[in-house]
Amino acid sequence: TLRVLTGITTTGTPHLGNYVGAIRPAIAASRLPASDCFFFLADYHALIKCDDPARIERSRLEIAATWLAAGLDAERVTFYRQSDVPEVTELNWLLTCVTAKGQMNRAHAYKASADANEAAGEETDAGISMGLFCYPILMAADILLFNAHKVPVGRDQIQHIEMARDVAQRFNHLFGQGRELFVLPEAVIEEHVATLPGLDGRKMSKSYDNTIPLFEGGARGLKDAIARIVTDSRLPGEPKDPEGNALVAIYEAFGSPEETAAFRADLLAGLGWGEAKQRLFERVERDIAPMRAHYAELMAHPERIEEALQIGARKARVQASQLLATLREAVGLRSLR
Ligand code: TYM
Repeated sequence: TLRVLTGITTTGTPHLGNYVGAIRPAIAASRLPASDCFFFLADYHALIKCDDPARIERSRLEIAATWLAAGLDAERVTFYRQSDVPEVTELNWLLTCVTAKGQMNRAHAYKASADANEAAGEETDAGISMGLFCYPILMAADILLFNAHKVPVGRDQIQHIEMARDVAQRFNHLFGQGRELFVLPEAVIEEHVATLPGLDGRKMSKSYDNTIPLFEGGARGLKDAIARIVTDSRLPGEPKDPEGNALVAIYEAFGSPEETAAFRADLLAGLGWGEAKQRLFERVERDIAPMRAHYAELMAHPERIEEALQIGARKARVQASQLLATLREAVGLRSLR
């Protein structure tokens, strides 16, 4: 069997980028007969960026409801909240002890903050927590704890998964005595949706405030958000360049190759931006609408979500505690003999 694992940080409302980059391919993988899937809510990760408990709680509910509305079958998939599996933090420590600080210095999330500080003439590490600095180690713990083979993610997570491979390799080498204690995970990335652009053309991201929410605001909200996608000032009748255009990239993430080819051809032939936005809305809505009612129903019944998560946590901990027993022994903490 192929173990597939992915998580979403619980700091905001799920957006189209999360859906096409992670949720949609993960759900598709979970329907393959030979897959064993672990999908989780990364709420320990949320604490790195957010000190508002109510927001984390709200986001966790929205992300969980989104997974279920998108078709996650909680019987087949191990679906859990990261913080319900304390083995994650224990493994985090074991991995922290074999991770070079220099490697963490090169992690994108940390470097972006450090570079921004330097550009602003501040001290390099001003305002940077140890949580942010060690973020990739916690993520490696998530992945390695379940010996995941495949990790469906957007392009922004590639470096983290490479770091997880590195630390797994080092750990195997140091403590495996010829055994593979950890599987080396691989990122699974769908090229055409690897980095979905947001309203302003940059990567769609909670931190850029340029997202198109998946369900929040309903069909009206989706339509209004699409209307705010930045376009150039070409008028209806003038040919539009589909290359590098956010509208086209988002269309492509939902449309079939034929639909996308027709959309591009119409833009080149002078389709107006207003009309193009209407067509994008209709295409996205076709996929999203059937899930929206289910989402609303789940949001109205948080106890059903909680129940699914509790069952998931129990399943996850059975696996996690077995691996940890082996790891504790391998590093010399406990002997099972
Ligand atoms: P997060 O919460 O930022 O994003 C969740 C998933 O959505 C993908 N994504 C995108 N894909 C395409 N285009 C976009 N614009 C876009 N924006 C977001 C992300 O690549 C990601 O797959 N560190 C992770 C959460 C995490 C995790 C893990 C993931 C924690 N542990 C273990 C996989 C395995 C994060 O913050 O993703």
